[in-house]
Amino acid sequence: MKSSVIGLGKLGLPFALFLASRGQKVICFDKNKKILDLLLKKRSPYIEPKTLKYLREYNKKIFVTKDLNQLVYGSNLTHLVLPTPSLKNNSFSNKYLIECLEELSVALLKKRNTQHIINITSTVMPGSCKNIFTKIMESKNLKNNKDFLITYNPHFIAQGTTIYNLENPDFILIGSDNKKSEKLTSYYKKIYNNKVKISLLNTMEAEIAKIAINSYITTKITFSNFISEICQNTKNVDASSILNTIGKDHRIGNSYLGVGTKYSGPCFPRDNKALHYFIKGKTKNSLPNFIDKINNEQTKRLLEMLKEIIKKEKIKKLAIGVYGLTYKDKTSIIKDSQSYDLIKSLRFNYRETFNVYDENVKPSQKYLKNKKLIYFKNLRDFIQSNKIIFLMYANQKIEREIIKYKDKIIIDCWDRIEEKKTNSKIFKLGKKIL
Ligand SMILES: NC(=O)c1ccc[n+]([C@@H]2O[C@H](COP(=O)([O-])OP(=O)(O)OC[C@H]3O[C@@H](n4cnc5c(N)ncnc54)[C@H](O)[C@@H]3O)[C@@H](O)[C@H]2O)c1
Repeated sequence: MKSSVIGLGKLGLPFALFLASRGQKVICFDKNKKILDLLLKKRSPYIEPKTLKYLREYNKKIFVTKDLNQLVYGSNLTHLVLPTPSLKNNSFSNKYLIECLEELSVALLKKRNTQHIINITSTVMPGSCKNIFTKIMESKNLKNNKDFLITYNPHFIAQGTTIYNLENPDFILIGSDNKKSEKLTSYYKKIYNNKVKISLLNTMEAEIAKIAINSYITTKITFSNFISEICQNTKNVDASSILNTIGKDHRIGNSYLGVGTKYSGPCFPRDNKALHYFIKGKTKNSLPNFIDKINNEQTKRLLEMLKEIIKKEKIKKLAIGVYGLTYKDKTSIIKDSQSYDLIKSLRFNYRETFNVYDENVKPSQKYLKNKKLIYFKNLRDFIQSNKIIFLMYANQKIEREIIKYKDKIIIDCWDRIEEKKTNSKIFKLGKKIL
């Protein structure tokens, strides 16, 4: 099959590069001309690991075009990786996909009879492929299964490890309402050298499975936070040890069982909320909604901890530093991250200026200016300037550096620092302050 990718965003570009690295020639299109111009100069718009390296290494396989007709004629499988932003009611908007399908239909009408596969990679609400996208294409006089076929094929990746995750999937999920979807199945078998499990469902099943997987993970994280909260209020017990033990049971497994902050980022919260929206009227109780509520309580635990620490240590002058603004290392997404929430609460409760450090964030980012945060460019300066430091995501660089100091108060949210390795005071989320 001849591949093309429309939408070269945080998922689309790494995906196109991954395909290129597996020998596919990929025609790439994005309506944002700045992205295309950067790619033509072999520069990556994102900090995502491996992206720049692959862009340089597999450049000969990547064909950037500014013309959709060229893309349609040059390929017979188009992956659509467009935004599907959450609406106020928590369902996903199909606006960008519909706009693009309408544009594609014009080119496809000229091509006809080649069964061009339009493979939706964006996360969509259940029912979208069959009830909306297919019908739109049919309304343009294109024949389903003959001129086009809509399939659903989300990928399970996390920012910061996108290409790694694409290279090492647990399985490939394909949703198709055409029994003969072997073209897409053999496409992936070839890409993965026959070493991949493929789950073939109908489109609606696949659309439900995608958001349900993320919702299940949010449930597991919330369970970890529940154990962590119990331990925080119980003397002489350690949440990490308990969670680690629970995870040894093969029916449960260790992933996402550990001490940490709330879940955040661009996928988990929104997929969980979308599942809540989708099940309205279908179930008596909404597990996703309950999980969401508990998650929204998590930052309060950090604030309560801080209050207790300030009292216990008799701290008069508050010099508070927040390490990590994004929702995890190696990404630049700040919106709704655990720190975003924490900083909002800190400002509300203390009305102080806060010092922040995050290598993944450019000082020019609007968020920093709007919140009047003091942004440090140097890690040591940041550590030296603060008495209390929140470690909001795992990062070895700060973990190695901070233990060298002896007069700091470290709020270790991810249980990363060994207390005996430092003379500073460590307070861990999930451990009672004694
Ligand atoms: N980024 C992730 O971690 C991730 C993970 C899993 C699923 N997803 C899903 O993948 C989809 C894309 O996410 P993303 O993070 O890559 O989004 P993004 O906003 O980073 O990128 C989307 C790109 O699509 C382009 N675009 C919009 N309309 C277009 C059109 N009509 N024609 C051509 N290009 C157009 C934009 O210019 C942008 O470059 C979303 O549905 C998201 O939920 C993302």
